[in-house]
This record gives sequence, structure tokens and C-alpha cells, in this order.
Amino acid sequence: MNPNPNKALWEKGDFTKIADSMRDSGDALVRTLGITKGMDVLDLGCGDGTTALPEARLGANVRGVDIARNLVEAGNRRAKAAGLANLTFQEGDATDLRDLKDRSFDLVVSIFGAMFAPKPFEVAKEMVRVTRPGGRIVMGNWIPNDPTLVAQILRISAAYQPPPPEGFVSPMTWGVESHVLERFGGAGVPKERIAFARDTFTFNFAGSPAEFVAAFRQYYGPTMNAFEAAEKHNRAAELQAELDALFAAKNTSTVKGLTSIPATFLRVTVTV
Ligand SMILES: C[S@@+](CC[C@H](N)C(=O)[O-])C[C@H]1O[C@@H](n2cnc3c(N)ncnc32)[C@H](O)[C@@H]1O
Repeated sequence: MNPNPNKALWEKGDFTKIADSMRDSGDALVRTLGITKGMDVLDLGCGDGTTALPEARLGANVRGVDIARNLVEAGNRRAKAAGLANLTFQEGDATDLRDLKDRSFDLVVSIFGAMFAPKPFEVAKEMVRVTRPGGRIVMGNWIPNDPTLVAQILRISAAYQPPPPEGFVSPMTWGVESHVLERFGGAGVPKERIAFARDTFTFNFAGSPAEFVAAFRQYYGPTMNAFEAAEKHNRAAELQAELDALFAAKNTSTVKGLTSIPATFLRVTVTV
């Protein structure tokens, strides 16, 4: 058995199949980060490089760090295919970035990445530690109880799963400003250096909403787990129907065979 459930969750399935629907918004987001040639950038919880590749295309020296070995390998394959010698992916855990030196990055980016690591206070400390004074940390975090796609997938899925273990801290708490202030405060950052904004990320999938749900069921670790739990109680069809209805309701595309679903997130900018 894999001793680290956090790692096992993200190595399960194949997140690259979902990430394919996130490339356009990843590109657009990176263009707002003020990246200049030669900047040292850490992309934490980078997956297969939805934001890391565009960062490198802007000329930054980019290190992608992710806990999932299969995603690190996929990222390195994408970097090589794109001819980006200024981008490397490596395995690492946001709660303990022991391979990375203090004050070594101008910009630390974590888009729906570090929020999924346990021990959020350790994560905040590590992100601050590796950032140079005057540098920035930019996080994108899903928002709990938000009416848009991701929070709703989570709400629906949770109803089919056993309650989380005692002491479990939901990743979605990173989408609550008071928690973010407390966590970076614990890492020595005063609240005046932390800014918040609401932003939108759009999933664009080449298929119908039902086919997009099928991709989540087949490839996305958290949804795979929800279906496994639902199957134990013969409730998989019910979960499928709820998710089908959600995805169909949130789809804004009028083109047949193309699904487009916007989702709101909390954008956090920390000046170190
Ligand atoms: C929803 S995906 C987002 C990936 C990527 N940032 C993107 O936008 O496509 C979450 C990512 O966080 C990574 N992750 C989860 N826990 C982590 C941890 N403790 N340390 C580093 N990465 C982690 C997962 O492996 C996964 O690639």
C-alpha cells in the first residue's frame, strides 16, 4: 500500500485528461502574472504543466514541483516536446520542500495545487521560505460552497463518501480569506501584504457534458474515489445522474460536442 494517501490520490487515474480542458485559462492566467525573461519561478502542485509551460514560454526559468510521479513525468514529456529547456519538473511535497533553497524564487505560483496538500500552515511556511524578499506568491484556490462547478462536484461527491477522518482539514478552506490570512500570518507575513480577488477559470472540454463527467469518473482521483464509495452502496447511478445534471446545467457552450464551464476561484497574492 502507498504510505502517503495524498500522493496516492493524485497518482490515481490520469489527471492529464482533465488538465487538457484547463489549458486556455491556464495560459490566460499566466499572462496576468507579470512574468519577465529570466525570472525564477516555482510552480507548486504543477500537475503536467498547465501554467508551468506558459510561464516558461514567457522566458522564465521554471521549476515545476508536484507530489504525483506520473504527472511530473507527463510534465517533463510536454516540456521536452515543446523544446523548453528552461523548464524542469520534479517530485516534491508542498508541506516539505527540502530540496529547494531558502529565498530562491522571484515568483511562486500554485493554481489549485498547494491547496490540496495537508498541513496548510507548513505549506504557507514553505512557500514563504523559498520566495525571495520582494518576490510574490500567487495562489488560485477553489471556494467552499461556491455555486460554480468545482465546489458543487465536491458537495455532491461528499454525500456519497464516509465522513473524513478526525482532524482532516478540507483543501477548500484555502478558499476562505480568514484562513489564508492566518496561515500566511503564521509564516510571518502581515495581512497588509496579502491581496484577494475573485477570478474565473473556464474548463473547455472537447465532448458533451456527459462525456466530461465520464472523464472525471475514469481519470480524476477524487471523483474515482467518490464512485468507488457510491458503488459499495449501489448508488453509483445516482451519483452519475447528479453529476450529469450539474455539468449540463453549468455548460455555457452552444456548440454541440464542446463543453465550456466557468468556475470561480479565490486569487491570493502575497508579497514577501
Ligand atoms: C487539481 S490538480 C492542479 C494541477 C495544476 N496546477 C493545474 O492547474 O493543472 C492538483 C495538483 O496538486 C498536486 N498536489 C497535491 N498534493 C500535493 C502536495 N502535497 N505537494 C505537491 N503537489 C501536490 C497534485 O498531484 C495535482 O497535480
